[in-house]
Formats: sequence, C-alpha cells, structure tokens
Amino acid sequence: MAGLCALLVAGALFVAATASMVGGVAGFYVPPPGPAAACGLKVGYYRDRCPHAEDIVRGVVGAAVLRDPGVGAGLIRMLFHDCFVEGCDASVLLDPSPANPQPEKLAPPNNPSLRGFEVIDAAKAAVEAACQGVVSCADVVAFAARDASFFLSNSRVAFQMPAGRLDGRYSNASRALDFLPPPTFNLAQLVANFAVKGLSVEDMVVLSGAHTVGRSHCSSFVPDRLAAPSDIDPSFAFTLRGQCPASPSPGNDPTVVQDAVTPNTLDSQYYKNVLAHRALFTSDASLLASPATAKMVVDNANIPGWWEDRFKEAMVKLAAVEVKTGGNGEVRRNCRAVN
Ligand code: HEM
Repeated sequence: MAGLCALLVAGALFVAATASMVGGVAGFYVPPPGPAAACGLKVGYYRDRCPHAEDIVRGVVGAAVLRDPGVGAGLIRMLFHDCFVEGCDASVLLDPSPANPQPEKLAPPNNPSLRGFEVIDAAKAAVEAACQGVVSCADVVAFAARDASFFLSNSRVAFQMPAGRLDGRYSNASRALDFLPPPTFNLAQLVANFAVKGLSVEDMVVLSGAHTVGRSHCSSFVPDRLAAPSDIDPSFAFTLRGQCPASPSPGNDPTVVQDAVTPNTLDSQYYKNVLAHRALFTSDASLLASPATAKMVVDNANIPGWWEDRFKEAMVKLAAVEVKTGGNGEVRRNCRAVN
C-alpha cells in the first residue's frame, strides 16, 4: 500500500466525549482503552515514555489558538505540507543551514504562507522540559494538527492520534513543488496527487474541507479565478475584487478569509460554499466536476456530523503517510535543525 498505514484508522478514532476541556483552553486528555497499532504508530505511544506529552502539546496549542485562531489553521495545513513531502517526518520544520540552504520551508507553497512554526517550537520546548529527547517533532506536528482541529471545531472534531513517528534528516524545496498540489489543479490532477500518497478520492474531498478555516493570499486565486469566464458566484467575485489587487505581487498580496460565513470555525460550511460557487480555488470548485465527488460535497454539506466523522479518519490517514518508525530517522533536539 502506497505510503500509508490504513489499518490504524478505525482503532484510532474516539468520540468527543472522551476529551474534555479544562478552563476552555488546557486540554485534559483521556486515552481510550485498546490502543490501535499499525506501521509502528500507536495510540498512547507516549503513555509510558512521556506521560504528559499529549497534554502538554494540547495546552500550548489551545493557548495559541485562543490568541489567534489563524495559527490553528496554519497547524492543520502544516500536517498536510509535512506529510506530502518525505512523509510525516517534520522535514517542513527544518531551517536553511549552510549544509542545506534550500529546505522545504523555503519552497513557494510554504514560504511565506505556512504559519504556526513558533507554536511547534513552544510545544517541543515544553515536552523537552518534561522528557528530554523522547518526543519527535513529527509527532508534535501531528498532535498539534489534531488539537487545532479540536479547538477550532469547538471540540466536535475530537480524535486520537497514533504516534511514534521519527524525524527525517532530509528536506529539499524542490520536493515540495513536486508533491504539494497547486490551487489551479483540476479534479483528475488532485485525485492523482492524493493517490500517490495512498489517499482516496474521498480522503481528498474530505481533507479539502480544511479550507473552512484560515486565510489565502490573493495571489493564490488571482487572476485565474476572477477573470471571466469562471464558475465563481458574481457577487462573491465582486467582493474578492474589492479585497485583492488585479495583479498581486510579493509587496502587495493581501489575504482574505477562505470561508466568509464561519471563518474561524472548523465545520462543514466549506461544502456549502463550494455548492454556492463561493470557494476560492479552482481545486475547491473542481470537487463538483464529477457526479461522485459532487455527491460527497452534498453529503458533507447537508448531513449533520457526516463530514466531521470522515475528517477525523482522514486526518489520521494523512498523518500516517510514509512515516519513519525504524532506524531511518531520529528524535530531533531542536525541530529546526537535524541533530
Ligand atoms: C486538495 C488540495 C489542496 C490545495 C490545492 C490547497 C491549496 C491551498 C492554498 C493555495 C492555500 C492558501 C495559501 C495562501 O495563499 O496563503 C491553502 C490554505 C490552507 N489549506 Fe490547503 N490545499 C489543499 C489541501 C489541503 C489539505 C489536505 C489541508 C489540511 C488537511 C489544507 C489546509 C489548509 C488550511 C487550513 C489553509 C489555511 C492556512 C492558513 O490560514 O494559514 N489544505 N491551501
């Protein structure tokens, strides 16, 4: 199976009732009985190795998301951008160095738009203070994306995240361009792009729902989506033309919210926006291009809880892409540099 350990998915899910919030921010985390294990990843992996690791990450992420919900969106996107390039191995976190001047972080899909790095640094510093050299940066990224989903969804998207990933030692900007899909992709291109990582058409449709939070730079959809002809709703296009320059440039590239209805809530509103032709990217709009994916959009939009259930599963699958669990990785001391 390409790059993915799907077996762990079913056992990894748990109901929202097992997670509760303390004081609205610091998460109190109740692991489920019967850990799911596959591909070397395991729910509760740190239970004996660093018992408070997941609580610590959740506390840092909760505080950060409370200060700035946008950073939560960044953390959800970070998991995607990490996992699609060299697998979920924290390769996206590596800073440029004399030995490696062009890491993934500098590639256009990540630079300058990917955000949340300082939250990962803070979470890693906190777990290092509790248990030195035990918790990988790749697991911190996966926990942080899970926790950001929890907080931004008002706890509706609550699930267990298997862990045990190791950190990679290789990061190359050109590989980010090879694997991260641009917003101009059509449906066939998106399906093929996700299939390379062992993810299904439905995974792709469901994970695209993350575009219910966060922001986009105008350059990601101008001019192609605002130039006629486009399927985009005319009044939405009019609003966007008022927010974006006709020719965005690095010095003049504002951002707009991705979901104008509930911009900071991780919910199924994205699918309603797609149906109303009020989505930003060609990739978003292309989900209506086949009867099968259009039906998924309709179901995600209209059946309460449907998308949330699938998003939990798809995030666990995403976080299992090409993980390093054997001798092919390390637990980095500092997430920004190899040991
Ligand atoms: C299906 C293919 C996808 C494409 C073509 C795509 C493309 C993009 C683009 C162009 C942006 C705006 C970047 C900017 O201009 O600042 C963006 C933002 C975002 N994407 Fe995606 N994306 C895809 C899938 C995903 C997936 C799978 C996730 C996570 C599960 C995700 C989560 C996000 C989030 C949360 C943001 C907002 C980030 C922020 O506010 O900092 N995307 N995406």
